Amino acid sequence: MQTEILSGEVGIARAVELLRTGEIVALPTETVYGLAADALNAEAVAKIFSAKSRPHFDPLIVHLPDLNWLEQLAHVPTNNKHLFERLIAAFWPGPLTFILGKTELVPPLVTAGLETVALRQSAHPLFQEVIRRLGKPLAAPSANRFGRISPTNAAAVRAELEIPAVLDGGAATVGIESTVVELDGKEIRILRPGPISPEMLAEFGNVTLSAATAKIVSPGQLESHYAPKTKLIVVSDISLFAFPGGKKIGVLCFGRSAFPNGRTLSLRRNLDEAAANLFKMMRELDEEKLDLIVAELVPEIGIGIAINDRLRRAAAGR
Ligand code: TXA
Ligand code: MG
Repeated sequence: MQTEILSGEVGIARAVELLRTGEIVALPTETVYGLAADALNAEAVAKIFSAKSRPHFDPLIVHLPDLNWLEQLAHVPTNNKHLFERLIAAFWPGPLTFILGKTELVPPLVTAGLETVALRQSAHPLFQEVIRRLGKPLAAPSANRFGRISPTNAAAVRAELEIPAVLDGGAATVGIESTVVELDGKEIRILRPGPISPEMLAEFGNVTLSAATAKIVSPGQLESHYAPKTKLIVVSDISLFAFPGGKKIGVLCFGRSAFPNGRTLSLRRNLDEAAANLFKMMRELDEEKLDLIVAELVPEIGIGIAINDRLRRAAAGR
């Protein structure tokens, strides 16, 4: 089966019909493409796990059609309700995911048996249109095989998975998966760094970044994740790297012009542009049958923290 690429009004209608009948469909979001299923249909959700070869201990993010669904799926925190509401007002719909206590309605398969559920609202117009017409929450992890690079366009989804269809929404504008947070009193604990940076969250409360080595609460924290097939190493300054002879080496650099076999994340040193290019360029380099990819870290600020997080995990991959 080759994954069908859907587009336009006919594509939206087809995606909704597939989801309604318990099928899985990849949909564009502002972060990366997600592999969606009706979150309340455990049989449909099971298809996500098998298409991705995702282990059942790794829970999925549930996307809400609208805020009315919130209390049906989760127990809205009582001790920090105000903080939660301010964060939602500021960042939803958008790339911020909350871990909250789950209700009975959420099938245990979705949360891998945990008592908590991950919730967000996507800002992508096509995703919003599909979920609005379906009128139900959608479970949607990134549309890649487990442990590999998240897809940021429809062709990458098709190269990654054999599924009924992907709805083409062009290139993902953000390019990096949502920030995952957990609230603890006045504290905002970042479980997975993402587009909503610690600096942005600091206006709302005390922010802590849980270390990658800490006990795994969120499998997005698994050390080897987002891995290309080619060996990848990270360096802080590519100009100081001694290229070994006799090897085909690809370079992923930040703000300087590309090397042969190279890609530049953002010539004008813009971190948002770098994030949008990251997975696409990693994927391209991975296709070039290189012996090694050398990736340069970006400044550790804002979304740069999430970019470096993904690069370090890709380096831990093999
Ligand atoms: O931007 C995104 O978040 C994309 C788009 C498609 O929405 N989705 C995404 O999903 O990245 P996924 O499944 O690849 O990553 C979800 C992350 C994983 O690290 C998972 O372990 C964590 O969220 N997660 C899900 N439910 C959780 C829970 N109950 N407790 C802790 N972590 C959870
Ligand atoms: Mg993922």
